Amino acid sequence: MNHLTRFLPDEATTQSVGEKLAHQLSTPLVIALNGPLGAGKSTLIRAMLRKLGVTGPIKSPTYALVEPYNFSNYSIYHFDFYRFFDENEWGDSGFRDYFNSDSICLVEWAEKAGRVLPPIDLGIDLQYAPTEGRTLNVHALSKAGEVVLQKWSQALL
Ligand SMILES: Nc1ncnc2c1ncn2[C@@H]1O[C@H](COP(=O)(O)OP(=O)(O)OP(=O)(O)O)[C@@H](O)[C@H]1O
Ligand SMILES: [Mg+2]
Repeated sequence: MNHLTRFLPDEATTQSVGEKLAHQLSTPLVIALNGPLGAGKSTLIRAMLRKLGVTGPIKSPTYALVEPYNFSNYSIYHFDFYRFFDENEWGDSGFRDYFNSDSICLVEWAEKAGRVLPPIDLGIDLQYAPTEGRTLNVHALSKAGEVVLQKWSQALL
């Protein structure tokens, strides 16, 4: 399976869907989150991090561009590329090193990083639904992404 679509009527549903994704992750993994301002990308990521045991503040990486979360045998890097416009800065930024075999990279506004971003395993798109709530669309873009999506879909049944 390589596609999942879901209606998320409220914030609690976005959080619960994120919590269910949290336990399907494996390393290495790159997840891109796209969709307009306020669509719920950070809400989903925060719910995942909380589920994985992050208890301290979960800062938005809007200015720092990346926030690291180190677990015992892997790391999660939460990127937000809303302010990342210049592909030429990628080389100097050192960001490439974050995309390694022991990491899970969750990338908000991945589309702004353009062509420099390493290959994406799972593409998550959140859009405002016509009246209220959000629409979630997920595409698996690699074998690893397919495995995660398969397990996530099962958990959502
Ligand atoms: N399914 C939902 N239905 C209605 N409101 C929701 C839903 N999911 C999240 N929200 C609300 O929408 C807002 C989403 O904000 P959030 O910061 O997560 O968006 P974002 O996509 O990360 O935006 P940005 O691009 O600015 O980083 C929050 O106020 C949250 O309460
Ligand atoms: Mg955000």
